[in-house]
Amino acid sequence: MKILDGKISSANAKEQIKHDTEVLKNIGVEPALAVILVGENKASQTYVASKEKACIQTGIKSIMHRLPESTTQSELLALINVLNLDDGVDGILVQLPLPKHIDTNTVLENIRCDKDVDGFHAINVGKLASGFKDGFVPCTPLGIMNMLNEYNIDPAGKNAVIIGRSNIVGKPMASLLLNANATITITHSKTKNLKEICKNADIIVAAIGKPNFVTKDMVKDGAIVIDVGINRLDDGSLCGDVDFKNVAEKTSYITPVPGGVGPMTIAMLLKNTIKSTQNRAKKLGLV
Ligand code: GUN
Repeated sequence: MKILDGKISSANAKEQIKHDTEVLKNIGVEPALAVILVGENKASQTYVASKEKACIQTGIKSIMHRLPESTTQSELLALINVLNLDDGVDGILVQLPLPKHIDTNTVLENIRCDKDVDGFHAINVGKLASGFKDGFVPCTPLGIMNMLNEYNIDPAGKNAVIIGRSNIVGKPMASLLLNANATITITHSKTKNLKEICKNADIIVAAIGKPNFVTKDMVKDGAIVIDVGINRLDDGSLCGDVDFKNVAEKTSYITPVPGGVGPMTIAMLLKNTIKSTQNRAKKLGLV
């Protein structure tokens, strides 16, 4: 069993991002990411703080907007519009979940798709599904693909089972693995015979948000197990969707929680921001 180490992979990715940021600054464009957080969700506050820290580490300008829970949808859309029109902003990220009185899809569709570094806009979703390379890909599944690549794991011909069908992870993960020639099964809460399906998997991606959901009896010997879960237990500790302690010994590769997928997600957000800045530099005729 080998650990897929997200701390090492993300550190490597961040070194490259730091370099790319320097190059862009030297030609006169400063990469800038705007992050909007609405309300007081504790997990979101932690994620946003990590994103801000990663920007600072790599030299990317971080523009933070922390808005109160009472912010109306039209106020949020007005801010997004200002950022859409600001030529100095390369990426716009609205942290999810949003308060209930705001319609998430309306918000996401109002982010300019060439600044949508989360890859949630329908145009970017469509580009990924169609196999186009010029859109933005959601950060968590992109991070997983980068990690597989770093460890020379080729998904081609492998049976990949994805547990969870969210727009943030499950669905884009399926598109990426399919584009990489894996055979895909997407499973979810209504799936029958989940255990049997998982037992047939060469790659399992667990993204359901249930602590220790994937148990030893669901995993075949030598499988590659990717754990996207970040569940906080009553004692304050973090736990993935995979029962790591018992599953790990059966796998060929497995991601730990913490220190697996999580750090890669943030690195890919920075990478998408740099991609956007590089597009800006091209439009300006600087490269
Ligand atoms: N909430 C949980 N994951 C994400 C993510 O990748 N992007 C945004 N914007 N919100 C999230």
